Amino acid sequence: MKSIIIRGGRTLHGDIAVSGMKNAALPIIFASILTKDRCVLDNLPDVTDVNLSLNILESMGATVERLGKTTVAIDTKDLAGGCSPVDLVSRLRASTYLLGAELGRFGSAKVGFSGGCDFGVRPIDQHKKGFEAMGATVTIEDGCHLVRSARGLHSASVYLDIASVGATVNVMLAACTVPGRTTIDNAAREPHIVDVANFLNMCGARISGAGTSFIKIFGVDSLHGCSYTIIPDMIEAGTYMVAAAATGGMVNVKNVIPKHMETVTAKLIEMGCGVDESDDCITVSRSTRLTGANIKTYFYPGFPTDMHPQFAALLATAEGTSTITEGVFENRFRYVEELRKMNAVINVYGRTASIVGTKQLTGSPVIAVDLRAGAALIVAGLSARGVTEIAKVETIERGYDSIVDKLRGLGADIELAEK
Ligand code: UD1
Repeated sequence: MKSIIIRGGRTLHGDIAVSGMKNAALPIIFASILTKDRCVLDNLPDVTDVNLSLNILESMGATVERLGKTTVAIDTKDLAGGCSPVDLVSRLRASTYLLGAELGRFGSAKVGFSGGCDFGVRPIDQHKKGFEAMGATVTIEDGCHLVRSARGLHSASVYLDIASVGATVNVMLAACTVPGRTTIDNAAREPHIVDVANFLNMCGARISGAGTSFIKIFGVDSLHGCSYTIIPDMIEAGTYMVAAAATGGMVNVKNVIPKHMETVTAKLIEMGCGVDESDDCITVSRSTRLTGANIKTYFYPGFPTDMHPQFAALLATAEGTSTITEGVFENRFRYVEELRKMNAVINVYGRTASIVGTKQLTGSPVIAVDLRAGAALIVAGLSARGVTEIAKVETIERGYDSIVDKLRGLGADIELAEK
């Protein structure tokens, strides 16, 4: 049993480097199925979800070669479709990308139900809608999703009812080698969508419009291998920015793309933080008590839902009453119970958390109920008086590369304990 132990109250100072983006790395790893050539991926974060995804490919017959701490070579020449291990697939949400990748490579897909964080129902009806528009049928058999295209896939105009990240990626994966022009209207615009499209284009795909809500995919005969560097993780960066704001001091968050951080930066400035940007670094400082704020999470370029719990932890000690309204997931409030154990005053009304700022949180034993909830508890623990012990650290390790070591490098009193 692992736990993170934090003795709170230290201000943070210095430099912290952000790793590659988990939510870009995962679809790109699965996208490598679309080519029989070797792909070399760099700036991969060393997190459990990435390692699990690589294990899934290996168990399907791919060769995965570790070339360095953040670099792997993937060769899917001998990979067989329809045989992904259900136990691994059920441990992460990103395994749904196997549907689009297998469909694109083999013309059919068979994949067990995916897992990941529990934010209420996480349907895949929009993925299904995209596949069906392209001539596939989607059924459930033996506890797996089965996608088949008896007469082969054809190009299509896909309109997504929701700008879903997962559905947008899956349609792009399925369509790369389908003759003609496939379009996705109301596509997700997140930076990781652009990264996946850039990777696929490096492999010879012809995708344009990624980053806007209208994506065009012109089918090519086949894809080839490439070397690709994953973009920095905007949520990891945002988490460290919030940690700096919560504890005071001055922190340089390095290896970021400031453009991706605009909503987080704007909110921190609104609350009273100093935020300075240079090419690939953001400096966050705080000298007085922060003021509360109101936040609504939404699809990119809206405020990221994956920064919701960390901001709740920050607002818990800001002056006045704040609100966070969750606009993406139906239930993202499981962290509230844990923050309450630390004396946060939070009430949830429907999709809105009302947070009454208290001067100081107090340390407590708490549980990382999901990935970003775990990050929020770290933020809270760093600013709290006393000791916070966070259980279920595995949840945090799914998406944060070396978070304990990185924060210790800023002067935090934080350690990983194993019992
Ligand atoms: C991805 C991210 C997750 C992030 C989320 C939103 C990965 C592995 N996970 O999740 O960290 O919080 O984007 O930025 O990249 N929906 C439907 N039908 C569908 C698909 C989605 O109703 O077919 C709904 C979902 O329930 C949710 C919303 O659309 O309410 C957004 O989901 P989506 O963008 O698909 O998120 P994920 O890809 O699951």
